[in-house]
Amino acid sequence: MADVQSHGFRGLHKYTLPDLPYDYDALEPAISGDIMRLHHQKHHQAYVTNYNKALEQLDDAVSKGDASTVVKLQSAIKFNGGGHVNHSIFWKNLAPVSKGGGEPPKGPLRAAIDNEFRSLEVLIQKINAEGAAVQGSGWVWLGVDNELKRLVIETTKDQDPLVTKGASLVPLLGIDVWEHAYYLQYKNARPEYLKNIWNVMNWRYAGQVYDKECP
Ligand SMILES: [Fe+2]
Repeated sequence: MADVQSHGFRGLHKYTLPDLPYDYDALEPAISGDIMRLHHQKHHQAYVTNYNKALEQLDDAVSKGDASTVVKLQSAIKFNGGGHVNHSIFWKNLAPVSKGGGEPPKGPLRAAIDNEFRSLEVLIQKINAEGAAVQGSGWVWLGVDNELKRLVIETTKDQDPLVTKGASLVPLLGIDVWEHAYYLQYKNARPEYLKNIWNVMNWRYAGQVYDKECP
């Protein structure tokens, strides 16, 4: 019993920083190596570290029956856990041009885009307009509602994952519009960052997720 008290009631999973699937400089000129290095090694690492820390504190509080600490930890868990979830998707949403980055979507996802948004160009314009309009820090998403089988464009604030906007929403593409994602290179020109990121967008990944959610 003493062991359970001091170590919590179950083994805790430790989250780790996932490797980037390409080199830090591989997305240039759309996104500089300096931004990618800082964003991955410092920002994403901090979300992972702080998520693990909050989960350890939660485990400790739960094992002690400390209800007010359990409640107090929820915002740190949502913020840092969301940061880890969102960035883990974001790295896969991007690809060097040599690995298909920027290649337009094909197959069922392309058909759904053309059907629901008239064209890829219209979809990109809408995502860029929504992303530019996010106040402060957040994300703009292209997702699929896997119940209604429809594409959705949504924004979330801070590090809220897309699922906070609806339990049936699955992200296909997420664009980080926090200043840390573009400021070193683009300064305050978020629309320019949003325009250029499509040159390294990994539509192959989005298509694979879409095919899984809408077979
Ligand atoms: Fe970020």
